[in-house]
Amino acid sequence: MSSKTKLQIMLLISQSLLFQIWSALNLSISIHYWNNSTNSLFPKTPLIPLKSLTETELRIKEIMEKLDQQIPPRPFDHVNTTTSATHSTATILSPRDTYCRGDKLDILLEVRDHLGRRKQYGGDFLRARMSSPALMAGASGKVTDFNNGTYLISFTLFWVGQVSLSLLLIHPSEGVSALWRARNQGYNKIIFKGKFVNGTSHVFTECGLTLNSSAELCEYLDNRDQEAFYCVKPQHMPCEALTHMTTQNREVSYLTDREKGLFHRSKVGVEIMKDGKHIDVVECNKSEKIEEKCQVGMKPPVPGGYTLQRRWITTFCNQIQFDTIKMNDCLKGKLIYLLGDSTLRQWIYHLPKVVKTLQFFDLHETGIFKKHLLLDAARHTLIQWKKHSHPFITFQLYSLIDHNYIPREIDLLSGDKNTAIVITFGQHFRPFPIDIFIRRAIGVRKAIERLFLRSPTTKVIIKTENIREMHIETERFGDFHGYIQYLIMKDIFKDLNMGIIDAWDMTIAYGTNTIHPPDHVIGNQINMFLNYIC
Ligand SMILES: *[C@@H]1O[C@H](CO)[C@@H](O)[C@H](O)[C@H]1NC(C)=O
Ligand SMILES: *[C@@H]1O[C@H](CO)[C@@H](O)[C@H](O)[C@H]1NC(C)=O
Ligand SMILES: *[C@@H]1O[C@H](CO)[C@@H](O)[C@H](O)[C@H]1NC(C)=O
Ligand SMILES: *[C@@H]1O[C@H](CO)[C@@H](O)[C@H](O)[C@H]1NC(C)=O
Ligand SMILES: *[C@@H]1O[C@H](CO)[C@@H](O)[C@H](O)[C@H]1NC(C)=O
Ligand SMILES: *[C@@H]1O[C@H](CO)[C@@H](O)[C@H](O)[C@H]1NC(C)=O
Ligand SMILES: *[C@@H]1O[C@H](CO)[C@@H](O)[C@H](O)[C@H]1NC(C)=O
Ligand SMILES: *[C@@H]1O[C@H](CO)[C@@H](O)[C@H](O)[C@H]1NC(C)=O
Repeated sequence: MSSKTKLQIMLLISQSLLFQIWSALNLSISIHYWNNSTNSLFPKTPLIPLKSLTETELRIKEIMEKLDQQIPPRPFDHVNTTTSATHSTATILSPRDTYCRGDKLDILLEVRDHLGRRKQYGGDFLRARMSSPALMAGASGKVTDFNNGTYLISFTLFWVGQVSLSLLLIHPSEGVSALWRARNQGYNKIIFKGKFVNGTSHVFTECGLTLNSSAELCEYLDNRDQEAFYCVKPQHMPCEALTHMTTQNREVSYLTDREKGLFHRSKVGVEIMKDGKHIDVVECNKSEKIEEKCQVGMKPPVPGGYTLQRRWITTFCNQIQFDTIKMNDCLKGKLIYLLGDSTLRQWIYHLPKVVKTLQFFDLHETGIFKKHLLLDAARHTLIQWKKHSHPFITFQLYSLIDHNYIPREIDLLSGDKNTAIVITFGQHFRPFPIDIFIRRAIGVRKAIERLFLRSPTTKVIIKTENIREMHIETERFGDFHGYIQYLIMKDIFKDLNMGIIDAWDMTIAYGTNTIHPPDHVIGNQINMFLNYIC
């Protein structure tokens, strides 16, 4: 058989595999047996060992089943029958005139539709926040969904002062269900263009996580972790000539017009607690001092902290504030690998502003997505940032040389007690069906387990993704997609001995609705990191 046919067939297989994984139509389908009865050219032995395939696929399937149960379809005939922020009621339970610092404050939310009728199910995407702007203070609230149209919103009154409460209906449950369906329906919301180079000539072809094309394809497979990426093969260049990538958004939507109506700007993030009453919080002699120092292996609750005068204060462990001297001490002799996206690149831009002996080392690469290296050779400190591999979304041309999936990067590190790895990924996964994200998270987890076998003292820190702009293209990049990933990430990494920087919780507390949080937030994330490693 021609290699072209073979490639096409393998592509079809991988597409049908992926389809079966995420369609969840009949989860008892045995996904590792390739149906060869329709085409005798199908390979007899799979590319991927069956055992590990089964294990990972089963885990993906399990997580997706759980999510499908939690986000069932919610068809609606008219916007009237969807959740309305205006008609829903939020009531403070056992209200008091004043509260003591440290008290809990609970709110009962009863959701109603636009006709004022009680909703019988939950699933609304809500965001609860308390804040005192004058104190530059904020914290997230915890939302418990009873799945019957009522929710409990719990706040902890962390600081003294006048506190205002906010409860946003980001999307009604009907919108949430539509987004979940639309997300898992197509891989083609982003167009990838690969640049193939031979000397001074180059050519661009279309690439992607899957490709629906009858042309001959280049396959870039990681068999162990079952990661795949494809490009249309250029006519006169080998597949190995691929050097760079750039992306565009494709104008495609899997939402119906009626569903799209739920995501108009005016309907996203509507305040439910409109009366804007303040809560007075005073100091009442209750002192609950947390003595235990922050360290890896701790499980931050939600909320896991609050901001006061812009400082992030953890509530589950005692956090040290690192000044420049302490930072210098901590970083001495350390090798720090930042693996992820531009929200971690912000760290490597922030650090030399504070630690003046750190200097960028020029690796002769170009562009903002190049590998970044910060060095203080005298004090033996190395800090490196690298982007996670596919999918990576940007209009800018980025290099694929020295570009690995995070598990492969972790595999390259011997590790020791002075080595720290910080991992983040999520924002670039939002436009793609969720199996892509789950698979990567499982692959990263396995790599961390391998690392801990050879070096249990290496410090590994996961930074969850953060919230971003409220009014962004919801179907492609919205926070609901990120929230699901955030939950998956916390679940997959929950029992590993690593540190968690809950950037989701932090950015709700700070109220920074921007994909790249401001410098003071980054500084506080780094402070949290230093608490974990020193
Ligand atoms: C799924 O497949 C299994 C076995 O092939 C079958 O027993 C079951 O009835 C199917 N379920 C659905 C919902 O089609
Ligand atoms: C697998 O083979 C059976 C039997 O020939 C056929 O009915 C079925 O449609 C095939 N499935 C796929 C996904 O090709
Ligand atoms: C797959 O093909 C082989 C020969 O090519 C045949 O022996 C086998 O029975 C086929 N399996 C299925 C499930 O059709
Ligand atoms: C929905 O609201 C519109 C306009 O307010 C009204 O004309 C229509 O009758 C309502 N539909 C239902 C099903 O209640
Ligand atoms: C909703 O569920 C909660 C918790 O199970 C229960 O306390 C409450 O009474 C229920 N509300 C309604 C309206 O069914
Ligand atoms: C693939 O492309 C063909 C022709 O453009 C189209 O008919 C088909 O629906 C596409 N399949 C998928 C899965 O997108
Ligand atoms: C690269 O281009 C040169 C000059 O056009 C050509 O001779 C050579 O065969 C090409 N190499 C490959 C690997 O395609
Ligand atoms: C606060 O605590 C101190 C010592 O713990 C005690 O002397 C004082 O009376 C307390 N004040 C109030 C108002 O309870």
